[in-house]
Amino acid sequence: MSIVEVSGVGKAFRGVHALSDVDLSVAEGEILGVIGPNGAGKTTLFNVISGALNPDTGRVRLAGDDVTGRAPDRIARAGMVRTFQLMRPFASMTVAQNVSLAAQHHRLSAKKLREHALDVVERVGLGPWAHRTATDLPTAGLKRLELARALATRPKVLLLDEVLAGLVPAEREPVLDLLATLREQEGVTLVFIEHIMAAVMRLADRVLVLDQGRVLAVGAPAEVTSDPRVIDAYLGEEPTHADA
Ligand SMILES: Nc1ncnc2c1ncn2[C@@H]1O[C@H](COP(=O)(O)OP(=O)(O)OP(=O)(O)O)[C@@H](O)[C@H]1O
Ligand SMILES: [Mg+2]
Repeated sequence: MSIVEVSGVGKAFRGVHALSDVDLSVAEGEILGVIGPNGAGKTTLFNVISGALNPDTGRVRLAGDDVTGRAPDRIARAGMVRTFQLMRPFASMTVAQNVSLAAQHHRLSAKKLREHALDVVERVGLGPWAHRTATDLPTAGLKRLELARALATRPKVLLLDEVLAGLVPAEREPVLDLLATLREQEGVTLVFIEHIMAAVMRLADRVLVLDQGRVLAVGAPAEVTSDPRVIDAYLGEEPTHADA
């Protein structure tokens, strides 16, 4: 059954059609990659799915429930969270405190919350940084913190907006392994926006291509990346902010 169902979603900003009539269905436990040129509407799609933006048209369903227009924290409580392309941790707090804050809706005791946060911090490889201020983290660390904050909510569906951007290849591997493990061991459904094609090919069961706010193609990675329309719209072009 599909755990996320997007139907007929449209969103315009002052005449710019960021999304037009987007349909998307994600099966439980699936890993879906979302690709497309800069400005294609990928982040806007996540904003709509996660509740940060209300679509002009269309519906979003999570496990069969219509969650269109619900606040992000309510959608998070229902099991779906996203990471941000631009990280925004609470700068004055430690890494562990930032993660605890994200997990608060689980209403754990203070002790349990701390343990849970430290556990997640270890899991994303930030153990040595747990009690450092978030702003001390280098880019790769901030990316991991962003992931940790999402994981702390124990999501059923995780929406990842370019979690690998700004990481060197050696830093990407452990993150890719972690994501694969999340699906294998916990059945987490992943939808990830990514410019780095090697990561898309490795992780995704299916790939959705957005171009100018529309779904250009959706299918198996090899099928989609050999589609001439996709090559024209995207793969032939030099990515402007990725080293793919
Ligand atoms: N809050 C906003 N106000 C006005 N225009 C916006 C807003 N958010 C997005 N847009 C516009 O909507 C279009 C899609 O933007 P979006 O950020 O979704 O693209 P993207 O595919 O995530 O791009 P990138 O690969 O650069 O992250 C762009 O034309 C963008 O300028
Ligand atoms: Mg984006």
